Amino acid sequence: VLESLKGVNRGRLQIAVASTVNYFAPRLLAVFQRRYPGIGLRLDVTNRENLVQLLDSNAVDLVLMGLPPTDIDVESEAFMDNPLVVIAPPDHPLAGARQIPLARLAGEIFVMRETGSGTRQAMERFFSERALTIRQGMQMTRNEAVKQAVRSGLGLSVVSLHTIELELETRRLVTLDVEGFPDRRHWYLVYRRGKRLSPAAGAFRDFVLAEAASIAAPTLPAGQPEPD
Ligand code: PGA
Repeated sequence: VLESLKGVNRGRLQIAVASTVNYFAPRLLAVFQRRYPGIGLRLDVTNRENLVQLLDSNAVDLVLMGLPPTDIDVESEAFMDNPLVVIAPPDHPLAGARQIPLARLAGEIFVMRETGSGTRQAMERFFSERALTIRQGMQMTRNEAVKQAVRSGLGLSVVSLHTIELELETRRLVTLDVEGFPDRRHWYLVYRRGKRLSPAAGAFRDFVLAEAASIAAPTLPAGQPEPD
């Protein structure tokens, strides 16, 4: 066991994550690094479209993302819930309303992430599967920008619950209790099929699958609708 541990506890590990995963990836890396202090970790944070390119060019060991590609041959393993929620400023007329019918969102403006964002793709899919046309407002390339825009009254948005933990705690944003939300999605650990994972990459994979959810599962503060 000691011998094999020695093999794991060295080398370099290159991980790329969706910009939304950025909200919890460092917590995972902190635990992993304490366990394997000899492994050099490098983290790239980017959107889904770029992650697909990194997988395609075999440029990283492992990717954490919300929507694995279907046009590249990859292994993908779900490791944690990723609920998508509708966010609003606390003074929005719908804040605090129960069981808002989905159709009620038809008149609302939505702040959008950039094309290439997995969150945006999931949001567009959610509304189009339900034949709901929303009004697209401003487009922004960062979760942070989207959150600030919603806070400033530029519209509603749909984001991963992982991105708004602090804003919910301090009530700078609220989630709306809309029919069909939270949209239940998952986070996936992804790598190219057939790729030989290094001992360090294998250790990280095992760690994420076994422990990520207990380290970083998102929670809603009391008084806001729970994901079912
Ligand atoms: P994004 O990825 O940061 O590109 O929106 C998140 C996701 O794929 O769900």
